[in-house]
Parts: sequence; C-alpha cells; structure tokens
Amino acid sequence: MGNNLLAGKKGIIFGALDDKSIAWKVAERCVEEGAQITLTNAPVALRMGAIKTLGEKLNAEIIPADATSDEDLEHLFTKSMEILGGKVDFVLHSIGMSINVRKKREYTNTKYDWMHKTLDISAMSFHRMMQCMWKLDAINDWGSILGLTYIAAQRVFPDYGEMAESKALLESFARSFGYHFGTEKKVRVNTISQSPTITTAGSGVKGFGDFFGYADKMSPLGNASSEACADYCVTMFSDLTRMVTMQNLYHDGGFSQMGMNPALLEK
Ligand SMILES: NC(=O)c1ccc[n+]([C@@H]2O[C@H](COP(=O)([O-])OP(=O)(O)OC[C@H]3O[C@@H](n4cnc5c(N)ncnc54)[C@H](O)[C@@H]3O)[C@@H](O)[C@H]2O)c1
Repeated sequence: MGNNLLAGKKGIIFGALDDKSIAWKVAERCVEEGAQITLTNAPVALRMGAIKTLGEKLNAEIIPADATSDEDLEHLFTKSMEILGGKVDFVLHSIGMSINVRKKREYTNTKYDWMHKTLDISAMSFHRMMQCMWKLDAINDWGSILGLTYIAAQRVFPDYGEMAESKALLESFARSFGYHFGTEKKVRVNTISQSPTITTAGSGVKGFGDFFGYADKMSPLGNASSEACADYCVTMFSDLTRMVTMQNLYHDGGFSQMGMNPALLEK
C-alpha cells in the first residue's frame, strides 16, 4: 500500500524489460505512490512484449526509444509531456548492456567496437537523456533524475568487464550534469549503487550466481532486493530528499563498507 509520496508527480521510467527488471519494480512502486508515468525501452526490447503487460497494469503509455538516439529521445520527452500534461518531475535511467560481457570475452581481449557500444548505451545515454531534457526544458524545478550503477565503478570485479568503466562514467555524468541542473533548474541528479540483483542484465555476468551468494554473505543486511531498490528510488523522487544531489548512493546492505565478514570463512 502506498503513502502518496509521489501524488501529483509525473515521471518517465527507462529500462523495464520483464518482471525481474529493477525498472519494472520501480514503475510499480511509483504508481502505487500516486505518480503518473510513461514507460520506455529500446524498440527491440518492446518486441519481446512483456512491457505491454506492465503498461496495461499501470495505465502507462509505452514510448519506444533507443537511448543512443537523440531523435528518439526528443520524441520520447515531447510525447511524454503531451501525454502527462506537462513537464516531468522524475526520470529513472535503468539501462545497461555490454556485448563483451555478454559474450564472456576476457577483459584483456576486449573488442573495441563493442566497448564503444557499451559506453554509448550504458553511460553516454545518461548524458544524452539529460541534455535532451535540458534543451526541451522538460523537467520541473525540484525534479529528480536517477541512474542505476554498480560498485565495480570503484572496486575491481574482474568479470564485470568494461561495464566497470561505463559505470564510472555514468556516475561522473551525474555529478557534472548535477552541477548544471542544480544551479540553473533546481533539479537533482544522483546514482544509486545497487547490490547484485537477479535480472537479465545481472545474470549475463560470468559467475553471477556464485558472486550473488558471496555479496549476500559479505553484506551485514544481505543483498538489497529490486523491491527495496524501488522503495529507495521512490524516496529519491519524493519531496523528502530535495537537497540530495550529485551523490553516488550505496544501496547494498552494507557491502561497500565491509573488508571481511567472518560469515564467509565458516564452512
Ligand atoms: N542486476 C544487477 O545485478 C545490477 C546491479 C547494480 C546495477 N544494475 C543496473 O541496473 C540497471 C537495470 O538493469 P537490470 O539489472 O534491471 O537488468 P535488465 O536487463 O532488466 O535492464 C536493462 C535494460 O536496458 C535496456 N536497454 C539496453 N539497450 C538499450 C538501448 N539502446 N536503449 C534503451 N534501453 C536499452 C534493456 O532493454 C533492459 O530493459 C542497469 O543500469 C544495471 O547496470 C544492475
């Protein structure tokens, strides 16, 4: 049951692919909290069809947009403002993809055209999306923009490949654009650094199952679920967090502060 934390707010959720997607849970929670939203994903993801169910359930229109296309993004924001009846108050970027990781290529044998794609889809799209909103004046004062990230931006996780660099770039875009958005438009920009989560993107990482268990044991609170992540996103979209900006916020059950956990040594 909701608490009307987002009553009267309008938002756009990128990246709901299926009911395991973090964005799927965020979309559900936002609507439960009283928001009106549009959903978007790459045209190829829309063809898979699952998002239609979510759109119907939440009474949310689905607007296709490849997050690497300025044209698609412009159409998405213009159309969303039309449907929602004005500027938006919040946006979630929940997009990640690496062919090198998906094809389990060694980090020391990375294919550069694939790396370009990774950076374009997983990081530059965040800048692109914000620049588009900036130019169209598509977000209200005191609005909130969030991107999802992972601790491999700060620490080494060997099987995460060049997604590590793409997350470092994403977090940096949040800080740099956060300055401009804050100064000019009173809009906040943050990233949430989420625990490993069983989703299509997450499970594409080599050894994900074992690693999921490791992180769960290392974290005093255990891994944060996608539902808990959705709760955190709601608070970040609500008026209760208006002065939080340019931050990378760990949502990981304490994992990021641990050195060693004896639970991992127990046989
Ligand atoms: N699953 C994890 O363990 C984990 C942990 C920390 C952070 N994250 C981050 O959370 C976010 C969401 O991932 P998820 O785990 O829910 O997986 P997911 O596979 O459900 O979501 C990834 C989404 O990116 C979309 N996408 C890919 N290319 C696109 C493009 N060109 N244009 C628009 N959308 C495109 C996909 O269609 C998909 O909906 C990602 O940024 C991911 O890196 C995931």
